[in-house]
Amino acid sequence: MSSGLRGRDFVSLRDFSAEEIWQIVETARAMKLRLKAGMEDRPLEGKTLGMIFTKPSTRTRISFEVGIWQLGGVGLFLSAQELQLRRGETIEDTARVLSRYLDGIMIRTYAHQDVVDLAKHSSIPVINGLTDLLHPCQAASDLLTIWEKLGRVRGVKFAFTGDGNNNMVHSLLFAGAKVGMDVRVASPEGFHPDPEIVAQAQEDAARTGAEILITDDAREAVEGADVVYADVWTSMGQEDGKEERLRVLMPYQVNGDLWKHVGEGAVFMHCLPAHREEEVTTDVIDGPMSVVFDQAENRMHLQKAIMALTM
Ligand code: CP
Ligand code: NVA
Repeated sequence: MSSGLRGRDFVSLRDFSAEEIWQIVETARAMKLRLKAGMEDRPLEGKTLGMIFTKPSTRTRISFEVGIWQLGGVGLFLSAQELQLRRGETIEDTARVLSRYLDGIMIRTYAHQDVVDLAKHSSIPVINGLTDLLHPCQAASDLLTIWEKLGRVRGVKFAFTGDGNNNMVHSLLFAGAKVGMDVRVASPEGFHPDPEIVAQAQEDAARTGAEILITDDAREAVEGADVVYADVWTSMGQEDGKEERLRVLMPYQVNGDLWKHVGEGAVFMHCLPAHREEEVTTDVIDGPMSVVFDQAENRMHLQKAIMALTM
């Protein structure tokens, strides 16, 4: 597969042009259709992806592992607990060593800078499988889901309500700004998105016409929205202070009352895992508006496209 993305790291959607993001999304869609038609795509025959995890995962681990296998390659699960990283080997040395064995690295960890450093010192592509700051694989695959469900992405009114200072929100802000999708984020004081990320998204949005709105009013965010999105109120690593977060974020719950304000034909999305009756009620996540399992499936197709294009 020839690709201008060959050798590139996938650390932040901000590093990619709208055209490159579309190339990934369209490749994912084509691979998905071929898979459903029983056709094989094996551009990574004999290649190996190392997958470093310092946080738990269901979707990311399994979708990468199955995805690379479908592409003809092999995925190696590398628990950070069992690597010498845990005993003080540096990220830089780890990057240099892994580059001698592997064809690509996927990493899920806490500090975003660790992924930036890993990418800087690796001679093979590094894919960000979630940091405290960003979750670009999820946001890119959400573009595929929105495109499939609504038939368009540009001009879509996308609303997030809940913990706005969150890796998902940050990556969705970058994604929307790049492709011309309006992004509204409702969260209480102290839970707004990182102002630097918002400023960067606004810079991109000014070029594409996407409107970014940061508000503390959940109703305002979802009014007439085409997509309403939720994520957990306590992200991995934020377990301290969980009770207080539940109290402050409850007015931002996606429930039947809030749903009365969304646009006709709107869909509910959630990156999962979900905590029912916290950020979303069961009637919404298990209701006809919910597309969360199609969304989860698309992670695999999207990541196959990233691997096939970069590795
Ligand atoms: N959405 C997502 O990244 O899920 P996992 O934490 O299960 O990988
Ligand atoms: N914001 C969540 C996303 C999980 C996929 C977390 O970081 O735990």
